[in-house]
Amino acid sequence: MTESKRSMPLNVLETHRLILRPWTSGDVSSFHQLWGDPKVVWGRDPLADRGAAEQALAAELRRWSASPQGQGAWAVVERSSGEIIGNVSLQDSTSSAGQVELSYHVMSTRWNEGVATEASHAVLRYALLALGLKTVSAIVPVDHSPSCRVAEKLGMNRDGDVTHGGQTHHVYVFLPEEVGDHWEPVQGDWP
Ligand SMILES: CC(C)(COP(=O)(O)OP(=O)(O)OC[C@H]1O[C@@H](n2cnc3c(N)ncnc32)[C@H](O)[C@@H]1OP(=O)(O)O)[C@@H](O)C(=O)NCCC(=O)NCCS
Repeated sequence: MTESKRSMPLNVLETHRLILRPWTSGDVSSFHQLWGDPKVVWGRDPLADRGAAEQALAAELRRWSASPQGQGAWAVVERSSGEIIGNVSLQDSTSSAGQVELSYHVMSTRWNEGVATEASHAVLRYALLALGLKTVSAIVPVDHSPSCRVAEKLGMNRDGDVTHGGQTHHVYVFLPEEVGDHWEPVQGDWP
């Protein structure tokens, strides 16, 4: 293992094309670009302006410090450009006690390049191998084909449906034994 790998914080994840790291207070513009895009937040209100983005980002930063178990939202940074092109998060489920949910969002200018799948692989691997979670779920609206497709490509399995805000969602679950040998390693230190 190289020196730089050894000194890297556990919650900074690397893949072939991407670096996932916690958001910082300097990321307001990218945070606003992502969460201010109606195509990305569909079903919810986009962030109205930079002030709203600053507040929402500050709340996001507090979530990391309030999570001793290492859950939060990662900015997905493209290695080649240094640009933030998405977000992946792990958070306690609001609908199912004891469950941890994965969610993924990508800048709409960068859809269909495999970014959500590559970034989510890294976070799933972190959740199961570094945090030792027994399972991770994703709650996906049934009529959003790209989101369902990402869950399927990740190897998640359907486990029924739930209704949120009058809308039906598929529940997908992922189990530790499903981490395959073909998965690209994201850090050298995990079992
Ligand atoms: C869902 C989302 C994160 C996918 O990001 P992405 O980086 O484009 O995802 P990937 O490129 O890894 O995979 C997308 C898959 O959906 C497929 N897809 C895209 N549009 C589709 C459609 N209309 N119908 C069916 N499949 C579709 C792509 O072909 C691809 O599958 P493939 O690799 O088998 O060809 C992105 O669309 C997004 O940010 N949407 C808004 C936020 C959201 O809904 N997030 C999910 C909440 S958990």
